[in-house]
Amino acid sequence: MSRLDSFIRRMQAQRDCLNWAAAQVRTVRGPVLEVGLGNGRTYDHLRYLLPDHDIYVFEREVHAHPDCVPPDDHLFLGDVHETFPRAAAALAHRAVLIHSDLGTGDHAANMALGGWLGPALDSLLAPGGYVIVNQPLDVPRWTRLPEPDRVRRDRYFIYRAAE
Ligand SMILES: C[S@@+](CC[C@H](N)C(=O)[O-])C[C@H]1O[C@@H](n2cnc3c(N)ncnc32)[C@H](O)[C@@H]1O
Repeated sequence: MSRLDSFIRRMQAQRDCLNWAAAQVRTVRGPVLEVGLGNGRTYDHLRYLLPDHDIYVFEREVHAHPDCVPPDDHLFLGDVHETFPRAAAALAHRAVLIHSDLGTGDHAANMALGGWLGPALDSLLAPGGYVIVNQPLDVPRWTRLPEPDRVRRDRYFIYRAAE
């Protein structure tokens, strides 16, 4: 598979997983978190899918498309190691959906981050909340769910916290 094919399939998997997760939480009240704004593509998609939800964004340095920059009061600017603890005051155990895409393509770095990231995301996640993430995470109270039909196993990961 060419790198172009691989990129397109990753984007399709991301979109299919977000579409699926948004359908699960559409009528559930509570904030949605976008972890890793990048150029804002998935943030924009979440805004489109869930217009009635507050969406909070975590990003080290904003370099998104100008149309996809979140309002200041919904942006946690800085490294997640520092902003997650800050966000906990307002968001602890409240998020009904978290999409995390901090990946750099550096597999070893992603795996090293994973040990910290799972529990850190969990501290913000509501009971029964969903996590859509670009890497495997191991959190005792989460169950891994099957990917939507067209998504190849292990291309993207869906978890749900115990109720
Ligand atoms: C792959 S991009 C996200 C792409 C995004 N999903 C989109 O659709 O445009 C990853 C983003 O995570 C951010 N990031 C990576 N590590 C971070 C960290 N430790 N704290 C905060 N942001 C981080 C990077 O700056 C980058 O913008």
